[in-house]
Amino acid sequence: MEELKNIQWFPGHMTRTKRQIQSQLKLIDAVAVILDARVPYSSCNPDLRGIINNKPRMVILNKCDMADQNETKKWIKAFKDRGIYAVAVDCKSGRGLNMFIPTVKNLLADKIKSWESKGMTGRTIKVMVVGIPNVGKSSFINRMAKQNRAKVEDRPGVTRGNQWFTIGKGFELLDTPGVLWHKFDDKQVGERLAYIGSVKDEILDTEHLAGRLLEYLRDNNMEQLCARYKIDGEEIADLQGYEILEAVGKKRGMLITGGEVNTERAAAAVLDEFRNATLGKITLDKAEECKYVKI
Ligand code: G4P
Repeated sequence: MEELKNIQWFPGHMTRTKRQIQSQLKLIDAVAVILDARVPYSSCNPDLRGIINNKPRMVILNKCDMADQNETKKWIKAFKDRGIYAVAVDCKSGRGLNMFIPTVKNLLADKIKSWESKGMTGRTIKVMVVGIPNVGKSSFINRMAKQNRAKVEDRPGVTRGNQWFTIGKGFELLDTPGVLWHKFDDKQVGERLAYIGSVKDEILDTEHLAGRLLEYLRDNNMEQLCARYKIDGEEIADLQGYEILEAVGKKRGMLITGGEVNTERAAAAVLDEFRNATLGKITLDKAEECKYVKI
């Protein structure tokens, strides 16, 4: 998808954000990187490692309510094998959030011991929360801080001021604006971020996108796809994405005068149903890709 590859992500905004994050590294003890559990590889900004240097870091696999549970387990193990703590959470229900503070304490165990030996018992632990737009940073912080605050969108010209939140005795979170990278070198990454809705649909060809997603689902999640749209697997076995989209639209009765399928409507429906997991709990990035996550 050529058009995705060349999208420039508000470069000025992003450079400012990177600088903002880097200037605050000295204030924090650890970084919590929020990834989308459906795409843990694709939702990790490859520039992140360079931005946060060697600060202790951990992974939060958010939206695990929409991901395949087995795949999430594999991802957690894959991160563990790399010596990286990872927890699965669902900020909609709050599931898994109780693991966050104990995990940070494990991550910083040596540091905490050293503080204690210097008489700094109960020193406040400060964690910076980072992640690309839409992974759930605000939801996570709101949940942890048990308060609701106005959401400020990640958009050019609007800087989300860095804010501190107390989430328990001696524990603070630092919010940061979402950072996306300049352009996607890996076409698949761009596509997957578009599937989950992290790239605004207005700048995409949604029919093409939905077609590509349907091809992926046909090849990897055939059962869920056929069950949802009541199609016969054999019917779509050899079809191209756009043709699968037409088949779905037809089944759904999304026709325009003359009997043609309204593929625009069908695309919107498919993307919507994937994004809200009506199509099923589906993980697109497999745990084998963990070794490529630059964290
Ligand atoms: P951000 O700060 O990283 O940009 O993300 P934010 O918290 O705004 O979350 C982006 C969207 O993802 C929100 O939906 C939010 O409700 C949803 N979300 C966050 N965490 C989870 C989760 O664990 N599971 C599920 N299913 N959804 C999650 P929205 O449609 O933009 O807003 P709204 O539905 O909250 O009104």
